[in-house]
This record gives sequence, structure tokens and C-alpha cells, in this order.
Amino acid sequence: MAGAAIALGSYAAVTAVTAYAHGGATGIVKERMDAMEVMGKAMKTVGEMFKGQTDYDANAIQAAAGLVSQHAQEIPVLFPDSEASRGSKHSEALPVIWEQKDKFDGFAADMLRESKALSVIARDGEQRAVRLQFAKTAKVCSSCHTAFRKPKD
Ligand code: HEC
Repeated sequence: MAGAAIALGSYAAVTAVTAYAHGGATGIVKERMDAMEVMGKAMKTVGEMFKGQTDYDANAIQAAAGLVSQHAQEIPVLFPDSEASRGSKHSEALPVIWEQKDKFDGFAADMLRESKALSVIARDGEQRAVRLQFAKTAKVCSSCHTAFRKPKD
């Protein structure tokens, strides 16, 4: 179970980073930030392979894609229309999420589809195809952030 070991290892590393970055957030907001951080770490691991900073590792890509799929399925419930979810000063979530929840949840569905495809292609495909599918997956992250997350200042 090399995949599971990798997944758990990156999860532990990521929660440590999150505690530092978002010491103030609690409850549902902290939960979703943690989930996003796990995905961020997973995508970074794969990105580094394609930048030539680490060796190509199809198993690790499958593990990363699996983490993204898992959290993609949680996204709709991690953004409930509640006071705690909408009112946190630590959150970068834009209020438009709850005006366009179908569109928002649609990005989560896109991410589930693309990350599942990434896992399949990483198992069977050539690196070029894997790289393309990785880019498609990453594009869903940035599209949702552009529409629904406060821009960085
Ligand atoms: C459905 C929309 C959506 C998708 C898809 C999405 N995100 Fe996010 N992401 C958000 C929102 C909204 C926030 C801000 C959450 C908050 O601050 O309450 C966020 C925050 C983050 C953060 C910052 C977390 C923190 O600690 O503040 C990271 C990192 C991140 N996302 C990575 C990713 C990656 C990587 C992907 C793709 C694999 C992804 N996200 C896909 C909406 C999305």
C-alpha cells in the first residue's frame, strides 16, 4: 500500500502547514481550509515532477489524484449556507458562493471528474497525456478560485 503511505505522509505535512497559516480559523472554515491545503500539497507534489524537480512517479500521482477526488466530494458540504461558514473573518470565501451554489458545486463536480481521469491516465498512460490531464485538473482549481475566492492582495 505505497499509495496510502504517501497519502498519509502528505496529509500530516499539510496539517502542520495549515496550523501555522490559519491559526485563527475554526470549525467548518478550518475544515475546508485543511481540505484545500491537502489538495494544494497533492497538486504541488505532482507539479514538481513535471517541472523536473522530482522524479516522475505514477503511483504518487495516483495517490495525489485520489486525495483531490476525495476532497472534491466534500466541497459542497464544506461550504454550507450558515453563519459560521459565511461570517468568518479568516475566510477568503466570497458571498457569491451562496448566490450561485449550483455553479460552485459544479466546479467541485468538474474536479472530481478530472481528478478521477488523472488517476486512470497516471496508471495507464504516457507522461505527456498525464501532464495534460494534470493541467486540466489544475485549471479547475484556478477557475473556481477566480470566481469564488477573494483575490490575494
Ligand atoms: C468549488 C470551488 C473550488 C475548487 C474546485 C477548488 N477550490 Fe480551493 N478554495 C476555494 C475557496 C472558496 C477557498 C477559500 C476558502 C475559505 O477561505 O473559506 C479556497 C481555498 C484554497 C486554498 C487556501 C486554503 C487556506 O488554508 O486558506 C488552497 C491551498 C486551495 N484552495 C487549493 C485548491 C486546489 C489545489 C484545488 C484543486 C485541486 C482547489 N483548491 C479547488 C474554492 C475551490
